Amino acid sequence: MRIVVLVSGTGSNLQAVIDAVSTGSLDLTIAAVGADRHNTYGVERSTAAGIDGFVVDFKSFDQRADWNAALTEKVASYSPDYVVSSGFMRIVDQTFLDAFPNRYLNTHPALLPSFPGAHGVRDALAYGVKVTGCTVMIADAGVDTGPILAQAAVEVLDDDTEDTLHERIKVKERALLIETLRQLALGDR
Ligand code: GAR
Repeated sequence: MRIVVLVSGTGSNLQAVIDAVSTGSLDLTIAAVGADRHNTYGVERSTAAGIDGFVVDFKSFDQRADWNAALTEKVASYSPDYVVSSGFMRIVDQTFLDAFPNRYLNTHPALLPSFPGAHGVRDALAYGVKVTGCTVMIADAGVDTGPILAQAAVEVLDDDTEDTLHERIKVKERALLIETLRQLALGDR
């Protein structure tokens, strides 16, 4: 199984996948890592691991549709079985989704359908929930609305900040993403 991973930021979920592949606990090929902006730590991690990195810079395109088309073409050039968002903070359009039907995986740091969007951890904390968590799903054209593949719960502690809660969520999120990829690679889903 070949995957392309998309990042917008630090890519710590990506690093967990790189580590799982390099230790042999996850049997797949990371064909490339792509970003929507320059100078992401995520793409740096891929370079350090000897994996192809690329940028399709959102800000260099006047039209969103043109950016989507360029991203679709670049990702497709690696012939991935799955495309994985590891904190990729852009909504892709139908052109992209049609190129990888039911093959675009996303993770989200909340128990969907609660707290979708860019601030899932902050919103859950502000609401005052006692339990939140993470979700791995198939992305569709909505904001965090696709079919759910796996979820894990995380308790909210009284003294949690957005950062401390997000860190504990990410620990579960990485394990959940790796387990989901393992099942997909084995054809168990
Ligand atoms: C992850 O928690 C991911 O779920 C979240 O961004 C973080 C990226 O972390 N994505 C979203 O909130 C998308 N709505 P990372 O860059 O360290 O892997």
